[in-house]
Amino acid sequence: MKKIIFATNNAHKLLEVRALLVNIFEVVSLKELGFEEEIPETGVTLAENASQKSHFIYERYGLDCFADDTGLVVDALGGAPGVYSARYAGEHATYEENVTKLLHELDGKQNRSARFKTVVSLILNGEESQFEGRVEGQILERRSGKSGFGYDPVFLPDGYSATFAEMPPELKNRISHRGKAMQKLVAFLKNR
Ligand code: IMP
Repeated sequence: MKKIIFATNNAHKLLEVRALLVNIFEVVSLKELGFEEEIPETGVTLAENASQKSHFIYERYGLDCFADDTGLVVDALGGAPGVYSARYAGEHATYEENVTKLLHELDGKQNRSARFKTVVSLILNGEESQFEGRVEGQILERRSGKSGFGYDPVFLPDGYSATFAEMPPELKNRISHRGKAMQKLVAFLKNR
């Protein structure tokens, strides 16, 4: 099976993406490559950050690779936390702290609509392609569910009665921002 590097240090993302690419690609993690540093992420858009991460790894190893960057865009907060979703409550904030801040900022707000957006940057034979995925939903007033990661316990995707943290991982993967972007990447790779 062809190998491809997923330029992430996030174990949750790795699990999700491996499940999506099972029997299609052998997904090699940065840990398996022996790379354990943080990849710089200094862009002001998801696309810039995804591209920065994939180029960083490609320039170092010269191997086909992809990276994703994801943000939660909340309408009542003018699009925040957006590209700063990982650092919403501070530079090294935990998922728990970020969700607490989000619930606090939305306290008393009627409009709870939000979306997750992902941009995946793929570098294949030195050439970059990007794929986008998004999912619309609502931010709940309190957490519900234990699976997933990040903002999953408070995100209720439109058309479902379970948060991302309450649904089976296969279902999240099928309908999520990252799942949709990865489905586009798979279709692109299958065509080559
Ligand atoms: P990153 O910069 O792409 O690693 O993601 C930014 C932040 O968005 C992460 O630290 C998580 O808090 C959040 N995030 C990314 N993907 C998901 C997801 O699938 N569910 C919930 N939160 C996510």
